Amino acid sequence: MTMSYLDTFKAWQNDPEAFWKTAADAIDWFKPATSIFDGEQGTYGRWFSGAETNTCHNCVDRHVLAGRGADTALIYDSPMTGLKRRYSFDELLAEVKAIAAVLRNHGIGRGDRVVIYMPMVPEAVFSMLACARLGAVHSVVFGGFAAHELATRIDDCSAKAVISASCGLEPGRVVPYKPMLDHAVDLARVKPDYCFVLQRDELHAPLRYEHGDVDFGQAIEAEKLLGNDVPCTPVLATDPLYVLYTSGTTGQPKGVVRDNGGHMVALSWSMRNIYGVKPGEVFWAASDIGWVVGHSYIVYGPLLAGNATVLFEGKPVGTPDAGTFWRVVSEHDVKVLFTAPTAFRAIKRDDPDGEFFRKYDLSGLRALFLAGERADPETIKWAEMQLQVPVIDHWWQTETGWPMAANPAGLGLLPIKYGSPAVAMPGYQIEVVDDAGHPVGPGTLGNIVVKLPLPPGCLVSFWNADERFRASCLEEFPGYYKTADAGMIDDESYVFVMARTDDIINCAGHRLSTGAMEEVCAMHPDVAECAVIGIADDLKGQVPCGFLVLKRNVSRETSAIQREIVQLVRDEIGPVAAFKTVMVVERLPKTRSGKILRGTMQKIADGLPWKMPATIDDPAILDEITAVLQRNGMAQIPLAS
Ligand code: COA
Ligand code: AMP
Repeated sequence: MTMSYLDTFKAWQNDPEAFWKTAADAIDWFKPATSIFDGEQGTYGRWFSGAETNTCHNCVDRHVLAGRGADTALIYDSPMTGLKRRYSFDELLAEVKAIAAVLRNHGIGRGDRVVIYMPMVPEAVFSMLACARLGAVHSVVFGGFAAHELATRIDDCSAKAVISASCGLEPGRVVPYKPMLDHAVDLARVKPDYCFVLQRDELHAPLRYEHGDVDFGQAIEAEKLLGNDVPCTPVLATDPLYVLYTSGTTGQPKGVVRDNGGHMVALSWSMRNIYGVKPGEVFWAASDIGWVVGHSYIVYGPLLAGNATVLFEGKPVGTPDAGTFWRVVSEHDVKVLFTAPTAFRAIKRDDPDGEFFRKYDLSGLRALFLAGERADPETIKWAEMQLQVPVIDHWWQTETGWPMAANPAGLGLLPIKYGSPAVAMPGYQIEVVDDAGHPVGPGTLGNIVVKLPLPPGCLVSFWNADERFRASCLEEFPGYYKTADAGMIDDESYVFVMARTDDIINCAGHRLSTGAMEEVCAMHPDVAECAVIGIADDLKGQVPCGFLVLKRNVSRETSAIQREIVQLVRDEIGPVAAFKTVMVVERLPKTRSGKILRGTMQKIADGLPWKMPATIDDPAILDEITAVLQRNGMAQIPLAS
């Protein structure tokens, strides 16, 4: 019998260690833990210390050993290329072993870092698992990032190797990866020993053998012929499985470190209890392996739980149409789908009457989960109407690795409240505090924090930067993890997540730092100072918008400078920054102490009511900003009070 949410949450509250010890039974351990939670280790304690295990064993070998080798593990569906392929657990094991052998032959082993910069191809998933098999630490970099971002990550984790491909595919264009990889390697201080390059039919890349380039496909095929065994390397549960860089408040990304043991326990628990899927069923997270959703719910979660997972190389619209998700759901019998609200807004824009939904048999689908940004009630209601299944908003972050708040389908759905990702999941004591750290009452807005220790599966620190982790996440509210989200909890314990408290924006479900974009704008020789804010966008939720103050002596056409700045951000950060709007202003509004009033600018741009900040240096500047926004067709009528 399934325990209800309340009973489950109480069981966790009464005895967290017993709760996670039971959850850990879902995992194979080579050596049991000496303590379930050791509060003395790490930045806030460590889960399952002393235990030995291997994540690849649990994702792949374990299911083969249990007689499920012929069952489907991975379904690759690429409307970009027209390719579709199913891999059983047996086949997955053979692919992963071949790549592990290639890596091992090139000297990669336990603890070495491997950057994976790949499009959504099966070899990307195999490579992640091959690293896990060897005890190597992977760091996947999203394909929409450009060379400089890739170089920063190679340097930060001192990558011994990079696995990449000749190209990615975006609608209407082939994205050559190799020039970006070469540029990144040239920029990086740390030179990887090897760059493994998968040649795709759409574009063959010239290889720089003298720089350690290896034709990945050829090396894999050679290993398959040899068929060498590569056993799973036992690692400590507390050893890192991966580093995933995410946007922080500066251009320096934060390397979120995930361990092996706690990560497996939390993800397997979530598959059954939150997503409500059983082994053998098909689960599809329509995201990208470069994001945390891809790590947790394209690769590790479903495979740990013995589900078949879908790897989809396409977009919700335009590949070829707004029905592509529904084709995949019906063709592969997807039981649970997970995507970002922005994907639904894109589908709704192209298919407002939901005609594509009716072209496919969606009767197998049980639930749609949304995360990555605030799910606006209108989008949820539209999705419910079209799909006729529960549409479940849930809230989490790269840092946590799995949902902090959700409506747990596996434990029995609670009533849905639009605008809320429902309730705290076991492991998370979520509270709302004011800026001084005092708890606020139900319904009052404040900083959303989680009481320490964080549960298994959450980040253990930033890569090689414990102090930075403590400073940015643990120190402001002692005893709590700061989520950097603002919101409230109502009197029925439903969480409402309203906004970020830092300069992170969510654009099309992608997490971006406006601070990083400001750093790039400031690199332009004509720019004296600048501010980048996120402004509301019907499709993407938010898009970045830059304001530039030019140096006094600049006499060039401002439109040329604007174009150069847009290109600079694209070249330095990548197209994913979606930085396309930039305006030249005379001055930026500031407080008397010189702080730019980004929040007020954002409210003006979004047409929200705003108050004249008491500390403003020169109120007239806000009128100037409003006028520029209006000239550019951006500002709604401002409501100063
Ligand atoms: N490699 C190279 N370029 C990429 C890329 C990748 N992996 N992903 C995105 N880009 C490029 C896009 O081609 C686009 O380039 P352009 O400026 O030349 O048009 C740019 O980065 C911005 O991309 P995006 O903001 O995603 O806009 P889009 O118009 O291409 O697509 C959506 C809009 C809504 C269809 C798309 O963002 C989407 O499917 N979002 C789903 C959300 C999601 O997967 N979130 C992950 C967390 S759940
Ligand atoms: P990422 O690390 O890319 O997953 O982004 C995490 C951030 O996205 C969170 O801190 C929130 O600001 C936002 N976010 C994710 N899911 C939700 C949600 N369901 N509701 C509101 N905001 C969300």
